[in-house]
Amino acid sequence: MLRGDKIAKAKGKLGVLLPGMGAVTTTFIAGVESIRKGLHKPFGSLTQLGTIRLGKRTDKSAPFIKDFVSITDLSDIVFGGWDIFEDDMYAASKNSSVLKPEDLEPIKDFLSSIHPMKAVFDQKYVKNLKPVWFKDLDNKYDLAEALRQDIRDFKEKNGLARVVIVWAASTEAFIKVGDVHQTLESFEQGMKDNHDDIAPSMLYAWAALKEKVPFANGAPNLTTDIPALYELADINNVPLSGKDFKTGQTLMKTIVAPGLKARLLGLNGWFSTNILGNRDGEVLDDPASFKTKEESKLSVLEHILQPDIYPDLYGNFYHKVRINYYPPRGDDKEGWDSIDIFGWMGYPMQIKIDFLCRDSILAAPILLDLALFMDLASRADMGGIQEWLSFYFKSPMVAPELNPEHDLFIQQAKLKNTLRYMMEEEQVTHLGIEYYEK
Ligand SMILES: NC(=O)c1ccc[n+]([C@@H]2O[C@H](COP(=O)([O-])OP(=O)(O)OC[C@H]3O[C@@H](n4cnc5c(N)ncnc54)[C@H](O)[C@@H]3O)[C@@H](O)[C@H]2O)c1
Repeated sequence: MLRGDKIAKAKGKLGVLLPGMGAVTTTFIAGVESIRKGLHKPFGSLTQLGTIRLGKRTDKSAPFIKDFVSITDLSDIVFGGWDIFEDDMYAASKNSSVLKPEDLEPIKDFLSSIHPMKAVFDQKYVKNLKPVWFKDLDNKYDLAEALRQDIRDFKEKNGLARVVIVWAASTEAFIKVGDVHQTLESFEQGMKDNHDDIAPSMLYAWAALKEKVPFANGAPNLTTDIPALYELADINNVPLSGKDFKTGQTLMKTIVAPGLKARLLGLNGWFSTNILGNRDGEVLDDPASFKTKEESKLSVLEHILQPDIYPDLYGNFYHKVRINYYPPRGDDKEGWDSIDIFGWMGYPMQIKIDFLCRDSILAAPILLDLALFMDLASRADMGGIQEWLSFYFKSPMVAPELNPEHDLFIQQAKLKNTLRYMMEEEQVTHLGIEYYEK
């Protein structure tokens, strides 16, 4: 890892390539372009609006993160990606109905100029979509090589200094880590043999890592979370992060649950249900894709509440998560949580949360921060899993021997301390005893 002045500055253009150019991607691109034109502010983005305390509280030094570490200026970002539909980003934005016409019209020409490349798709992994714009090759290895060529062409055509990839395509069907995923050798052989357990997202990830392009996974698919791709990331020293953008209901869960645990309030049950009507909701209507999402959502409470350490408080809670596809709501999701807790002498209490959120509005700034921080990690020579970016994920990727950290506030402290470490600044421990010592 490089630190301080040794980290290369973010000079030149950064390409952000997005497999999946649907609701999240179009909202992200439209938002960045609107911000560049001064039409909106980057609400929700830590890289753009966040500050970081340095030194003692009495030093009163809290620069903006973007002034503390060298991150790419928004004006230097170039967008591209792949989809199974040919729509340009203006048509795709209209289709996903997240943003209002008055926000799209001023940037119509820019959005219309961005066209997806042909996707790598396999119906076995996403049953509810019928592709029309895809690479017509039979072999998985050849498909992945074609993706590598797309990355190289995109870089050259746009005169880019660097590229990052963030997966924002549909959630793939649930699969477990199998033999073919164990080593790079078995994985590459599996690609050549068209092995069933190699999903399209894995081909995009392999192509990225081969091209030394950082890869972040915004969906819950297994994708890079397999030994074969850890191995490739290590060999090529490329950053990896995932999985599943932490938005909506899980964001609320990782805010509320650490609070209950901090006050040692017990939990009898947590019932979570959602309605949403966008294409993501339609894909998740298929039980195989929902299973992938469910696994990602369910593990959060276990890890935060640690029932093995606190059996009396959390040894027996019932956790249920449901997602219901309900077209009238479009991208405006409603997430209900009904939480049964108990306190002093076992007396029961209830908490109800009704979060009327907008999925893509919550996800877009996460995508921006991940693209910029993954590029920073690459310039700092930080290959492999980027646990410090857990802050952004529902199922954070961690070293195989570790439990993931889900508590949003620990994740935030970890992220900021990593930035301080990178810049050779002292860690902030929040001890504060020095202010009272005579
Ligand atoms: N919106 C959120 O808050 C949120 C939160 C966490 C995770 N996610 C995940 O992010 C992803 C994107 O969400 P969205 O709301 O934009 O969904 P979306 O359905 O609007 O967009 C996904 C796009 O991916 C395309 N696609 C599917 N398979 C592809 C492939 N193999 N290659 C290229 N393109 C492909 C689809 O055609 C579609 O345009 C989903 O997996 C979703 O679960 C979203």
